[in-house]
Amino acid sequence: MKSQIIIILTIIFFFSLQSFSNPIWGPTGHRTVGKIAEKHLKKKVKRKINKLLNGESLAFISTYADEIKSDRSYSEFYTWHYINFPFNTDYHDCKKNPKGDLATGIKTCIKVLKDKNSSQKDKVFYLKMLVHLIGDLHQPLHVGRGEDKGGNTIQVQWFKKGTNLHRVWDTNMIEEWNMSYIELANNTKNLSKQEIKNYQKGTIIDWIYDSQSLAKVVYASANSGDKLSYRYSYDHFGTVRNQLQKGGIRLAKILNDIFG
Ligand code: ADE
Ligand code: ZN
Ligand code: ZN
Repeated sequence: MKSQIIIILTIIFFFSLQSFSNPIWGPTGHRTVGKIAEKHLKKKVKRKINKLLNGESLAFISTYADEIKSDRSYSEFYTWHYINFPFNTDYHDCKKNPKGDLATGIKTCIKVLKDKNSSQKDKVFYLKMLVHLIGDLHQPLHVGRGEDKGGNTIQVQWFKKGTNLHRVWDTNMIEEWNMSYIELANNTKNLSKQEIKNYQKGTIIDWIYDSQSLAKVVYASANSGDKLSYRYSYDHFGTVRNQLQKGGIRLAKILNDIFG
């Protein structure tokens, strides 16, 4: 009897781990942001970046910051992937995560890349981090509530499989769409020069507020235990695509400013 209980508890434990794991825009989302950014880079900037990355594309390196999560020696960067502060408050007035957050992470990357005394090795590392973090900034739940770890503890079903709200937005909706990152990047809305400029306006903190306002809509869209499927994508995949496009356009703006 006792051993049966232990087996059951072990199974429950592993199932719960599965739905907490992988708190990241999946690779397809990050690569789409990188690919869209490349379309908006100045020629000179493209050349400089290509040299720095030794021929690898922004799409290719966009997932590096998640890959290094498997290596403990990079644990200091883990909190850079998200930012949690109460809704309807000023970021500057809130208690900061002493380990750093999306805002301080992005600012550090920009500082290192702008510094002419930075080593090549540091420039490559922080460029890879920057490309990834601008992607994360545009996943609304990376600017979500701290209490539920940006939706990671809100358990839901996706086409009858256990997952959580964060993962639905990082990965499940994008994977369900079943398009490659190239296809997603090649099927963005046509925007006028003025619309692109409008997206590129503002500071990193303004863009964080923009994502946070979408996070409110995301939290209102589902409750713990909900069974999500086609209707959820029908209602929200447009927001995902729009965020990927905004992310790419804004990443290009930052890179054009640094390397232009
Ligand atoms: N990933 C892990 N913890 C998180 C949090 N608190 N907010 C958003 N994403 C996260
Ligand atoms: Zn995530
Ligand atoms: Zn991330």
